[in-house]
Amino acid sequence: MESSWNMSSLLTNKIRLASPSDQVRLLPLIEQYYKFDSLKFDGQTIGQALQRLLRSRTLGRVWVIDTVAERELVGYAILTYNYDLEFGGVQGIITDFFITEPYRRHGLGRRMIAAITGFCRKGGIRTIELQVTRKNRRARQFYESLGFETLERLVMDLELQ
Ligand SMILES: CC(C)(COP(=O)(O)OP(=O)(O)OC[C@H]1O[C@@H](n2cnc3c(N)ncnc32)[C@H](O)[C@@H]1OP(=O)(O)O)[C@@H](O)C(=O)NCCC(=O)NCCS
Repeated sequence: MESSWNMSSLLTNKIRLASPSDQVRLLPLIEQYYKFDSLKFDGQTIGQALQRLLRSRTLGRVWVIDTVAERELVGYAILTYNYDLEFGGVQGIITDFFITEPYRRHGLGRRMIAAITGFCRKGGIRTIELQVTRKNRRARQFYESLGFETLERLVMDLELQ
């Protein structure tokens, strides 16, 4: 009985673009994702960067998942932009992708990717790139199931002081 109630509430989950008013509910979710991916979370820096992103139309977009069952958001994804001739100009970068544990494996991730690819197609973006840690096998299987391919390249970065 309980599981059918959960399933029907899942069907009413809504994936939508975030607005600046989502900041307060989004930040704890981002913190959960950073913890999951062992990333350093500095609430002040990330909060400011998020605020800027939510107010901008040129930096990227944030999608969130609402449920009727809970007040909290249960998932989010961030797409930002990169410009690379190799990919025909503007390229989409998924920097964050997270769905809370009870809501995984119900097709929400797939729906989120569909929302992002739809948005990119409309805007003339022809490729989407992302980084996933080697040890995150589940996410790798998820992305592979949706057609993402692993490139024979290493990610390198330089921190400027
Ligand atoms: C990765 C993540 C976003 C996937 O979202 P999801 O809603 O669970 O995925 P879906 O239910 O839409 O799955 C779609 C397909 O992906 C594959 N897949 C998803 N999770 C999988 C898993 N744990 N193991 C193997 N395949 C998986 C399956 O083929 C699945 O289709 P199926 O359920 O019909 O078999 C979610 O598990 C998550 O938030 N994980 C923790 C955070 C994370 O790893 N983020 C990615 C950082 S790069």
